Order: sequence, then structure tokens, then C-alpha cells
Amino acid sequence: MEVTALCIRLLIIIWMLLLTQVQDSCYAQKAYAALPHLVPARLQYFEYESISFNCEGLHGSLGLGVMRRLPSESATCGKNWGFSNGSHCIIRSVYVEDSGEYWCETGDGKKSDTVNVTVTAGSVILETPVIVMEGEAVTLHCKNKTASNISASFYKNDLFIKNISTGNLIIQSVSKCDEGLYKCRISGAGESPESWLSVKEYHKETIPLCSDQLPVLLYLLIRTVVTVLWVALLLLVLRKRHYEK
Ligand SMILES: *[C@@H]1O[C@H](CO)[C@@H](O)[C@H](O)[C@H]1NC(C)=O
Ligand SMILES: *[C@@H]1O[C@H](CO)[C@@H](O)[C@H](O)[C@H]1NC(C)=O
Ligand SMILES: *[C@@H]1O[C@H](CO)[C@@H](O)[C@H](O)[C@H]1NC(C)=O
Ligand SMILES: *[C@@H]1O[C@H](CO)[C@@H](O)[C@H](O)[C@H]1NC(C)=O
Ligand SMILES: *[C@@H]1O[C@H](CO)[C@@H](O)[C@H](O)[C@H]1NC(C)=O
Repeated sequence: MEVTALCIRLLIIIWMLLLTQVQDSCYAQKAYAALPHLVPARLQYFEYESISFNCEGLHGSLGLGVMRRLPSESATCGKNWGFSNGSHCIIRSVYVEDSGEYWCETGDGKKSDTVNVTVTAGSVILETPVIVMEGEAVTLHCKNKTASNISASFYKNDLFIKNISTGNLIIQSVSKCDEGLYKCRISGAGESPESWLSVKEYHKETIPLCSDQLPVLLYLLIRTVVTVLWVALLLLVLRKRHYEK
């Protein structure tokens, strides 16, 4: 009786340990997939709009901050540009001079990819997401200050693509081939700045193990059960010998 109870308890403990181990490796994989990245809502802004940046994938890192490199200077958020509200770096009102490269950096020097933010004094912007994952649908939205969903002409790498009456260029399933410099033009209002559409490919090592972990868990479970049964058998044999004496 005692031995059985002991074995069950042992089994549970070992199982829990294995489970946490697997979960840990799963989180490690996820953390890798979520490489540190800076999150502004889009890449282009009109002057006097407000931008807020957030660093993702670096939670718990010490001295985490949003940085920028402009032709004029390079500095941490809050030093001589923007302010931090604890989680986000915010610029209340942006100017053309705020255009430049922005990134996240930790106290120990880990950096995210840089993001080129463009502020225009013109009246057309192309709303471009910072990054899209391969296979996702993406909408590049061309708008002027006062009107949305109006006819616009789209250009990729300076080559005319097409006119779209809604002002929304939709790519259903993006691939690396869709990367490039995009801009749009609204007749009568003008042209947007250019922004680079980044398409991130799925890499083997960034695919979380978690989705197909069931076979691994089953294997571990079976291994655990077998091990525990062996131990139980051994204990039983030992006990028997003990009583036979
Ligand atoms: C900081 O600002 C962002 C964006 O405006 C907001 O979503 C967030 O809740 C704010 N965080 C704090 C701690 O106030
Ligand atoms: C950002 O702009 C700089 C200068 O124009 C360029 O060298 C760099 O490749 C751009 N980076 C991205 C991610 O678009
Ligand atoms: C513009 O189009 C989008 C998508 O088609 C729609 O969600 C949005 O409400 C439209 N905006 C206006 C101002 O019509
Ligand atoms: C696209 O729109 C522009 C401006 O409205 C016009 O000049 C041009 O002819 C159009 N191009 C095509 C191929 O429809
Ligand atoms: C935006 O587009 C609309 C429609 O073409 C036009 O009437 C308006 O003047 C434009 N606004 C600006 C600021 O260019």
C-alpha cells in the first residue's frame, strides 16, 4: 500500500518537473520568436501628430529605453526628445526633424532592429505597418489630412503599380518579394514620403515548439511511467526480501 502511494506521489512530482521543463523551453522559444522590437503604430506621420513608442519582447530588461539616431543627434528617450510615461516613449507633437531611425536598447546594449519613422509637412501619408509576417495580409492605406478612402496611385520602388479608388492597397499574402519602398499619390493633394515595407520570414528556430509538443509530452509521460514502474518493482522486490528474512 505504502509503496503504491509513494510511487504515485513520485510519479506526480516527476511529471510536474518535466512539464515545467517543457514549458520553460517553450517560453524560451517564444521569447526568441518575439525578438525585441519597437512598436510605433505606423511609419509615417503628419506634422503635429503624436507618436508613442513601445518596446516589446524585452520585458524585465534593465535600463530599457527607446533610442533614436537623427542626422543631428542620437539619444535616449527623455534626454532631449520625447518623454516616458513608464511604458511608452511619447512625442506629443512631431516635426519633420523628428524623422529618423528609432530602436529599443537595453542597459546591457541589446538592440532591436531599427525602424525608420518619417514625418511629413506635406498632406499625404502612406500608412505602412512597421513589420508584417510572411503570409499575412497587409493594407497600405493612403490618406490625406482631411480625407480617407479616396482614390490614390501607388508606387513601389518608384514604379507605378496601380490606381485604387479606395486608397487601400491590399496584399493578401505577403512574401519577401513584396518588400520594397512604397509611396502613394493623391491627385490634388500630393505625394506621400516613401517607406520600406519589411516582411519577416518564419525561421525554423522562431517557430514555437509548443504547437506540436503533444508527441514530446506523450513520450516523456511514457518514459516517466516506465521509470516509476521500474522503481516500484525494485522497491517491491527489496521489501519482499526484507520480509522473507
Ligand atoms: C503610456 O501611453 C500609452 C500610449 O498613449 C498608453 O497606452 C499607456 O497606457 C500609458 N502608460 C502608462 C503607464 O500611463
Ligand atoms: C532607414 O533609413 C536609412 C537611411 O535612409 C537606410 O540606410 C536604412 O536602410 C533604412 N532602414 C530601414 C529598416 O528601412
Ligand atoms: C475606409 O475603408 C476602411 C476599409 O475599407 C473602412 O474600415 C473605414 O471605415 C473607411 N473609412 C472611411 C472614413 O470611410
Ligand atoms: C491613375 O490616376 C492618375 C491620377 O488620377 C491618372 O493621371 C492616371 O492616368 C491613372 N493611371 C491609370 C493607369 O489609370
Ligand atoms: C484631401 O483630399 C480631398 C479629396 O481629394 C480634397 O478635397 C482635400 O482638399 C484634400 N486635403 C488636403 C489637405 O490636401
